[in-house]
Amino acid sequence: MRIIEPFRIKVVEPIHFTTPAEREVVLRRAGYNLFKVPSTSVIIDLLTDSGTGAMSAEQWAAIMRGDEAYAGSPSFDRFEAAVQDIFGFKHVIPTHQGRAAERILAATLVKPGDLVPNNAHFDTTRANIEAAGATALDIPCAESADLFTPADFKGNMDLDALRETIAEQRDRIPFVMMTVTNNGGGGQPVSMANLKEASEITRAAGIPFYIDACRFAENAYFVRAREKGYENRALIDIAREMFALADGCTMSAKKDGMVNIGGILCTNDDLLAKQEAELLILTEGFPTYGGLAGRDLEAIAVGLYEALDLDYQRYRFSSTEYLGKQIAACGVPILQPPGGHAIYVDAGSMLPHIPRDQYPGQALVIALFRTGGVRTVEIGSVMFGAVNPDTGVETPARFELVRLAIPRRTYTKSQIDYVVDVFGELQSEKEALRGVRIVDQPQRLRHFSAQFEPVN
Ligand code: F0G
Repeated sequence: MRIIEPFRIKVVEPIHFTTPAEREVVLRRAGYNLFKVPSTSVIIDLLTDSGTGAMSAEQWAAIMRGDEAYAGSPSFDRFEAAVQDIFGFKHVIPTHQGRAAERILAATLVKPGDLVPNNAHFDTTRANIEAAGATALDIPCAESADLFTPADFKGNMDLDALRETIAEQRDRIPFVMMTVTNNGGGGQPVSMANLKEASEITRAAGIPFYIDACRFAENAYFVRAREKGYENRALIDIAREMFALADGCTMSAKKDGMVNIGGILCTNDDLLAKQEAELLILTEGFPTYGGLAGRDLEAIAVGLYEALDLDYQRYRFSSTEYLGKQIAACGVPILQPPGGHAIYVDAGSMLPHIPRDQYPGQALVIALFRTGGVRTVEIGSVMFGAVNPDTGVETPARFELVRLAIPRRTYTKSQIDYVVDVFGELQSEKEALRGVRIVDQPQRLRHFSAQFEPVN
């Protein structure tokens, strides 16, 4: 049977259609940086799946129940009960988004000189660990290095590398983290077997094991679909099994919390929870709201369960996979297999005539917007290229990718077909696409504000 959207539309938001000529003007004004383009000029926005999804009628109803008391709000109790029911951790701390949870974790556990291993750090996680004076070490599995050969669990951690790192540097490691699904590694899932072994290795050394749980429900779906023994299990049971392997977690509720804002920090450690709550009060808010409104907590409490609905995840996976298969059928090289929340296009091999120092990923991002008003994000040398401050010489990133992230419950199949059409059009004229040069850039996180100029 055909898999269809397990919802119907109750509220709509108009899309303003622009012409390629209008978009050229917008691009020029934005310095060819899509982060500077007003969202009203975008037709299909695949910049991120973070906080950009649609909430359900039940979530909007829960919002009306939000109790905005500064202290002791029953909205916190409902939020805490939902998180404890699914995640199973003793202490639940709300934060305004994922990176606030990361900052508090780094400030309490990480010392200068420390080392944190992760299958692949998300950029804010890395930045928070580095800001605490430590090293963020990515140890992805070997299969992840090959973009085009599919494997079931390319998000896994390299367990030999974990063993070695712990054997050699035990005293420097405050915790080990596993990111599910692995966003930096193409939205690929982590198997339960890999999680179990990583947890055993870490805990046997007396080190806490943490999960970056942003897309925990998508990961649970992949485990059910691909790992032996899980084919008949409820997603909530799989999620509980994953979290039982950990001592705590961070999460951006803007992903599988199915909300527009929010974050979660959990731990089983009483003393640590106390220290974290103190820091929370300093910058986020009182522990029963932590930088959120009571209504936000209510929406998360409902959203976490909706993310674990099997029909929803089946649709989520198959609609993302559909986009990947369709553009691959046009001859566009994509990271295989399709990820949970996004499709990653290899702009490096799609546009081999554009040298890496002219940013083929950024060239594709610009072309997708100019041709079809589709906004995506470069994940290549603009984002991760390292500039030597003394020589100005730049080392390119590992790959020149473009990410098409799919907001949750937001776009219909015909809108996704439109994106496929835009790729079809670009395929036939891709030799004419030109690279860009950077004309202005800040010192850090340059992709957000750099200005570009087309190369002739
Ligand atoms: N961890 C992962 C794996 C993420 O993907 C993100 C955000 C965060 C942490 C930080 O959460 O944004 O709530 O502070 N990812 C978004 C993205 C921004 O587009 O992939 P946040």
